[in-house]
Order: sequence, then C-alpha cells, then structure tokens
Amino acid sequence: MHRILALANQKGGVGKTTTAVNLSVFLASSGHRTLLVDIDPQANATSSLGVDKLRLERTVYDALAGDLSIHHCLLREVRPGLDLLPSNGMLAGAEVELVSAARREFRLRSALEPIADEYAVIVIDCPPSLGLLTVNALAAAREVIIPIQCEYLALEGLVQLVNTIDLIKRRLNPPLDVFGVLMTMFDARTRLAVQVVEEVRRFFPRRMFRTIIPRTVRLAEAPSYGKAIFEYDPSSRAARAYAELGTEVVERLNLPTTAGAVAAGSD
Ligand SMILES: Nc1ncnc2c1ncn2[C@@H]1O[C@H](COP(=O)(O)OP(=O)(O)O)[C@@H](O)[C@H]1O
Ligand SMILES: [Mg+2]
Repeated sequence: MHRILALANQKGGVGKTTTAVNLSVFLASSGHRTLLVDIDPQANATSSLGVDKLRLERTVYDALAGDLSIHHCLLREVRPGLDLLPSNGMLAGAEVELVSAARREFRLRSALEPIADEYAVIVIDCPPSLGLLTVNALAAAREVIIPIQCEYLALEGLVQLVNTIDLIKRRLNPPLDVFGVLMTMFDARTRLAVQVVEEVRRFFPRRMFRTIIPRTVRLAEAPSYGKAIFEYDPSSRAARAYAELGTEVVERLNLPTTAGAVAAGSD
C-alpha cells in the first residue's frame, strides 16, 4: 500500500522543499518507488532536481484542472525509482481558478488515484500558504511532516497550522495525522537553536524526529546545480542527516527495508 506524505508549513524558508527533494531521492535510491509532487507555483522542488520549469509542457496544473490524465503530466525516472509531477508558474492561477470547481479540495487526490499504487511513497511539497493548493495536498495525504526552522519565532504560526490540519482531518480526510516534526537549519553554536528545539519538543513531545538537520551552506548550494545533497556532496554532514531522516521515515512508515533495497540492486 502506498503512503502519502505532505511537507507543510505556511512559513516560507523553513526547509519544506529541501526536505521533500532529499527525502524523495533517498527513498527512491533505497529501493522504494517514489513520486514527488511539486504543488508550489514557485516550482523549487522541480528545479532542485535539475528540471527546467520553463520548458515543461505539462505540469501538476493540468492534472488538477482535470484536462489531462496524470499519466501525461508525470516526468518518469528523473532519478532511478523517482518520478516527478512537476510544477511551474501556471499553477499560480489554479488557486483562484479552482475556487469554483467541483470538489475543489479533492482535485489532487482524484488526480493521483489512477497511479498511486505504482509507488511505495508519494511526497508532496506544499507552497508557503494555507490556501487551496495546500488544502489539496492535505486532503490527498495520510501523513504530514512539519519542518520547523531552529530560529526565533519558530513556534509562531504553528497553532494555526495544527488547527488547519485538524479541520481538514474532521471535514475532508479523517486518516490525516501529523507524522513528524523536523527541526531544520540547526546551528549548534547558538543557544537559541538549542532552546527552540526544547520548546518545540514540549509542543510536540512524541512527534519530533530524532534527526535534526544542521544549517549548512552545502544544502543551499545543491539545488543551484540541480542536485540532491547525496549527489552534490555525499560525504557531507547534510547528506548524513538526510539519510538518517530517510531511515527514520522508512522505520516509522514500516516500509519493507531490505526487500526493496535488494530489488533495486538486482536489476
Ligand atoms: N539546513 C539548511 N542549511 C542551510 N540552508 C538551507 C537548509 N535547508 C534549506 N536551506 C536553504 O534555505 C532556503 C529555504 O529552504 P526551502 O527548503 O526552500 O524552504 P521552504 O520550501 O520551506 O520555503 C533555500 O535557499 C534552501 O536552499
Ligand atoms: Mg518550498
């Protein structure tokens, strides 16, 4: 059975895209067929994988509008075992256009249905807002990962995010749950970062991932080369941290670790 994880936080710059991209590449390379859905009009996940968003003929927009079957919108094998439902600026209009559409909150869920079983995991990278695109992601997902930057005011907006998740769970998608809270951009030299982690741990005592992502310039550089951190600097601290997170996600999802990896290596 496939699992659908959404990376959500209405704050921008907290590490949603970085995590979506590196987690997807990790899962795929560990033998779990993965689909990354970019549902942000900024299309940062799309370009982070080296895909030129200006040259895309079909995107997640066409799948949401329902004009085209999702089979025609996917980019297959952007990495071994990883497909991408890409985005571009076209999607900016969707937020407004979809307002009057039928079942407007379920457009993504319906679009994904015909292909979902091809994958072990589907990862959705949300835009920095709680608008209709994020609602579509949360109505399609089973699990939410909330990345939080280890900075001043980290908790700001979190109550609103949790309330939105609860509302969507009650009204649209009962199985939805906060799967994990990920602390990102941690700088061990500052006392503030340590305090923020403690504060967030009090807020989400059971949900926080053991893995904490360090602040490192390597993670900011990799997307400009169209590379995941494992490709750009595989021996870096950042690559180790994202591999550790990936392992934790595989454990929490109870994915069949060895079987997948053997299958990936055997063909
Ligand atoms: N751990 C990190 N250390 C340093 N820079 C990071 C880290 N994670 C992300 N970045 C950079 O910070 C910016 C915002 O991250 P991003 O993942 O795009 O956030 P979001 O998708 O939540 O807006 C990007 O330029 C990204 O490359
Ligand atoms: Mg982003």
